[in-house]
Amino acid sequence: MDGNGRWAQQRRRPRMIGHRAGARAVNRTIDFCLERGVGALTLFAFSSENWGRPKDEVDALMKLFLGALDREVDELHRRGVRIRFIGDRSRFSSAILERMTRSEQRTSGNTSITLAIAASYGGRQDIAQAARVLAAQVAAGTLTVDQIDEQALARHVALADLPPPDLFIRTGGDTRISNFLLWQLAYAELWFTDVLWPDFDAGVLQQALDDYSLRERRFGLTSAQIAAATETASP
Ligand code: FPP
Repeated sequence: MDGNGRWAQQRRRPRMIGHRAGARAVNRTIDFCLERGVGALTLFAFSSENWGRPKDEVDALMKLFLGALDREVDELHRRGVRIRFIGDRSRFSSAILERMTRSEQRTSGNTSITLAIAASYGGRQDIAQAARVLAAQVAAGTLTVDQIDEQALARHVALADLPPPDLFIRTGGDTRISNFLLWQLAYAELWFTDVLWPDFDAGVLQQALDDYSLRERRFGLTSAQIAAATETASP
């Protein structure tokens, strides 16, 4: 969700005005995904590197998260949204932590969509954390070194219980992944737009989905193999 700061600067307003407009774009995006039957949506709200921003901006963003958690969770729950948070929770205030845990518990049985908020999240940190779990299992004697393979690691990264993401969208004009779900995005289709996050709406999201629908996903196989597999699946 990149471009909040520039959106505000273009209007000669403080950066936080852009973040607030960004929060409204979050609501629009969730609405659209619910309408279209998207099964899982993961939003990169705050990276492990974002803690290094000026203290005023970090504090104001934390206040925005807290307010959003207080305001939005009832309605999300009513609409069947299962909420979860991924990332390093150790740096959040107890007020935010408590609301994160409560909203996860409260919505855990919902099935309309899984909404994952990546907060204090970094893809490298995610993989390192999974490696630590496996190392601890080896140290405890419950796993052998030979048993460490892709499947074993995949079980311990964030969102391990969900299918891998199909589509990655980055707004704001930069064409990089910036330490988002590094492991999970291995075969995701990447889509970039110059649109700044606060201007993100159903039209732009539809463009991304239309473009996605034209992509051929080969997962390392050939076009002919994919065509044969598709024919077998739908005679
Ligand atoms: C990146 O734009 C955006 C962020 C670091 C914060 C994202 C937060 C929100 C969209 C608001 C609230 C979200 C939730 C889930 C309640 P930037 O500041 O890097 O923009 P710039 O590149 O133009 O400076």
